Amino acid sequence: MGRVPAASPVAVPTHVAIIMDGNGRWARQRGLPRIEGHRRGVESVRTATYAARDLGVKMLTVYAFSSENWSRPPDEVGALMGLLELYLKKELATFVRDRVRLRTIGRVDGLPAGVQKHLRAAVEETRDFPDYTLVLALNYGARAEVVDAARAYAAAVAAGREKLNDSSWATFSRYLTTADLPDPDLIIRTSGEKRVSNFLLLQAAYAEFVFTPVLWPDFTKADLAAALAEFATRERRFGLTGEQVSAPASKPAL
Ligand code: IPE
Ligand code: IPE
Ligand code: MG
Repeated sequence: MGRVPAASPVAVPTHVAIIMDGNGRWARQRGLPRIEGHRRGVESVRTATYAARDLGVKMLTVYAFSSENWSRPPDEVGALMGLLELYLKKELATFVRDRVRLRTIGRVDGLPAGVQKHLRAAVEETRDFPDYTLVLALNYGARAEVVDAARAYAAAVAAGREKLNDSSWATFSRYLTTADLPDPDLIIRTSGEKRVSNFLLLQAAYAEFVFTPVLWPDFTKADLAAALAEFATRERRFGLTGEQVSAPASKPAL
C-alpha cells in the first residue's frame, strides 16, 4: 500500500470494497436453504463486477470468505467452496473476454486444492489487463494478515534485507497481502450490519463507509450508483483542515 493520497474532491472512487452480507437472511425470508442465498449472491458479484466498471471504478474488492467463516457448519463451508470453484471455472473465459484482471487477497494456500488451481489459472491468464481489477478476498482476515506480515517482515530484518531503523508504513505495508493494491476509497456493507468484521482494517484508515440495508443477493447497479453518489458528497481530509482541503494550493505535502 502506498502513501496516503493527496486530499482532493474526487467524484468517483478508484477502489471500492464491498462486505457482501445478508445471503443467509435473503434465503431465510424465502424459506430457502442458506446456500440458495449464496448462489444468488454469486449473481450479485457478477452484476457488481460490471456495474462498478461501467460507473468508472478501477478496482473492486469483494469480501467473499473470511478467516472466521471456517467456523460455520461444515456443509455450508463445503457448499461455499463448491460455489467458488464453479464460479471461477465458469468466469475465466468471461474475464479474458472482458479484460478483467483477477487478484486475490487472503491466505489462498488455506483454500481447497481445486479452488486454488482455478484461482491460479485465472490470476495468471488475466494478469496483464491494466484497466480494471476484481479482487477476491478469500480466507481473508485483517488480523491474520498483520500476523503474516509481521512474521515476514521480522524474517526480512533477520536476513538483513530490511533495516529495523528504516521501519515505516511504506516499508511494512509491502508485506501485507494487499502490497501492490491501492487503499480502498469506499467500503460498502450490505444487509444493515454496521461493522467491519476483520476486513481491511489497516487499509481502511481513510476510507469512506456506506452502509445499506439491501441484502447482498438483492444488490443492483442502482444500489452501487447510490453508494457512489453518497461517496461524492463526502469531504475527505486525510488529517488536514477543511480550509486546506478546499484550497489545495496551500496544503502541505503529506
Ligand atoms: C454473506 O452472507 C456471505 C458470507 C459471509 C460468505 P451471510 O452468509 O453472512 O448472510 P447472513 O449474514 O447470515 O444473512
Ligand atoms: C463478513 O460477513 C464476511 C464476509 C462478507 C465474507 P459475516 O457475516 O461473516 O460477518 P459477521 O459474522 O456478521 O460479523
Ligand atoms: Mg453475515
